[in-house]
Amino acid sequence: MSVIDEVKQRVDIIEVVSQYAALKKAGRTFRALCPFHSEKHPSFFVYPEQQSWHCFGACNTGGDVFSFIMKKEGIDFGDALRLLAQKAGVTISSRFEPEAGKEERERLYQVNQAAAQYFHNLLLNSAAGERAREYFTSRGFSLKTITDFQLGFSLNSWEALKQYLVERGYTESELLTAGLVIEAEAEGGKTHDRFRNRLMFPIHDIRGRIVGFGARVLDDSLPKYLNSPQTLIFDKSNCLYGINLATAAIRQQNLVVIVEGYIDVITAHQNGFNNVVASMGTSVTEKQVGRLKRLTKNMALALDADAAGEEATLRGVGYENTLEAEVKVIILPRGKDPDDVIKEDAKIWQNLLEEALPIVDYTFNMVTSELDLNIAKGKSLAVDKLLPIVAEMKDTVRQAHYLQKLARLVKVSQHSLEAALGKIKPSQGKRQAKEPSQERVTHAVHPLLSSPVEEYCLALLLQHPELKGRNEGLSPEYFENSENREIFTAWQQANDLSSLKDGLDSAIWEHLDSLKTRSLPANQIEQKYTNCVLRLREKFLRSLEVKRAGVLALEAESGGTAAELAKLEEQGIEVSVQLGEVFTQKSRGSQEQRR
Ligand code: CTP
Ligand code: MN
Repeated sequence: MSVIDEVKQRVDIIEVVSQYAALKKAGRTFRALCPFHSEKHPSFFVYPEQQSWHCFGACNTGGDVFSFIMKKEGIDFGDALRLLAQKAGVTISSRFEPEAGKEERERLYQVNQAAAQYFHNLLLNSAAGERAREYFTSRGFSLKTITDFQLGFSLNSWEALKQYLVERGYTESELLTAGLVIEAEAEGGKTHDRFRNRLMFPIHDIRGRIVGFGARVLDDSLPKYLNSPQTLIFDKSNCLYGINLATAAIRQQNLVVIVEGYIDVITAHQNGFNNVVASMGTSVTEKQVGRLKRLTKNMALALDADAAGEEATLRGVGYENTLEAEVKVIILPRGKDPDDVIKEDAKIWQNLLEEALPIVDYTFNMVTSELDLNIAKGKSLAVDKLLPIVAEMKDTVRQAHYLQKLARLVKVSQHSLEAALGKIKPSQGKRQAKEPSQERVTHAVHPLLSSPVEEYCLALLLQHPELKGRNEGLSPEYFENSENREIFTAWQQANDLSSLKDGLDSAIWEHLDSLKTRSLPANQIEQKYTNCVLRLREKFLRSLEVKRAGVLALEAESGGTAAELAKLEEQGIEVSVQLGEVFTQKSRGSQEQRR
């Protein structure tokens, strides 16, 4: 996920705007005296569902949270991003300065490696490690497995590791940064070992460097696992346990299987399923999927039945869009994890793998099995649940496939579903896991995360310099996403497309590059562009229409003055005239096409 998306996901526009304006709730919106111009009657509105704002007064303009901050603080996009990132606790500096802190990171890998060797040696050779050896034996781990995964044991001691590492020249402060020791506040900042009396699972990155540790108790006490904290080199949402040992098999089989737990990975590998990695207890994140993409496009998630449906609605299609391939699900028997299944009988696991269903098909089955599709209510419920998933799909062939499937299932014409599809804001399902956390959390949806029409239009402009000369009346306002708006403005101003980056904050470059390289149809570009501009204009006007109508209703209810009502009416007439123009142009366009 880009840093921009991450910031968008974490900040709430209501919270941000509240710091500049006295927002009052009004129906599904919030209103205030406009913070940009002086007025007596509030004409400034914030829409939590769209995470957007609009001033119907003198400004008569709007946008998302970035454009709000840019306008309010008088700063550019990059500074607005940094300001909001800071508020949201998202660190951006390190991402743009990959060289910074390189030595410090190197040192952290070293200290982790030294710690892992220490734990591993204790497990294999110490008297104190006896119970840990027994434990691993009871879980069926062979000596080879224990060595391959560099498993270990930490002593029941406050300072054993610390002393060992300090003697080898590591400073206390380095141990602290690595998360191997913690500061005890009660003892005036004295440090002690983080991992005590636990089974140690070193977590490697794809290059085999140890980035952190998972640590399990030997009994049923809680917490069952302790993990390294977030450090310069460890971000749980970014790692996959077992990846160092799985890469070759993933490439070879052109498939990666993602399970939840350390033990699941280890048991799978010991039984010859070497393409298995773990997300370490949380939902798979977009970052993890992005990493795997370089190895294979085929991914299977081992999920329990409850999680699978939720995963599909929340994230599955997002992953598919990232991978540009299908994601399958392996549905686990109730109450069992892969470790249980494989131990019981590796053949059962093999069968589950073979029966893995595409995540969307699985969701279709789940949803429709609970409904009576012969009655209108069942049909519309099925469409309500499934169409937004279809709307998320970026791959048009796959989208068409599932649209057809849905039409057949509910026995309505594909045409009417297509019409409904056009009305869905296709960003609603695009959700990624936020912070790693123990539960699967359903996040509130910020629909401004992406806008396919905006992106399509920009991709056309960026890939076809000949369009530069065509003035179709495209306005920056039509782009609701600030980063899209930024790119469009830079495009307008640039004389030469190759210098576009100069005018843009580096945080947007990634987005720019993805638009530049997006695959587009090759023919009838000019016509596609014209259509696209019309769709954008229509989207913009419609959204304005809806917002304005809401304001008008509020005004009428609360007895707004005649002048204000008249002004809103006037704006409304203007919008509908413009919408009328869009429709005329559209129908003219399709007539021409038919000729
Ligand atoms: N996990 C964690 N912290 C916890 C609990 C779980 O980080 N307090 C992560 C670990 O990566 C763990 C995974 O979630 O491997 C799955 O948790 P769970 O199913 O509880 O553990 P198992 O791996 O199945 O371990 P075991 O079989 O020993 O119970
Ligand atoms: Mn288990």
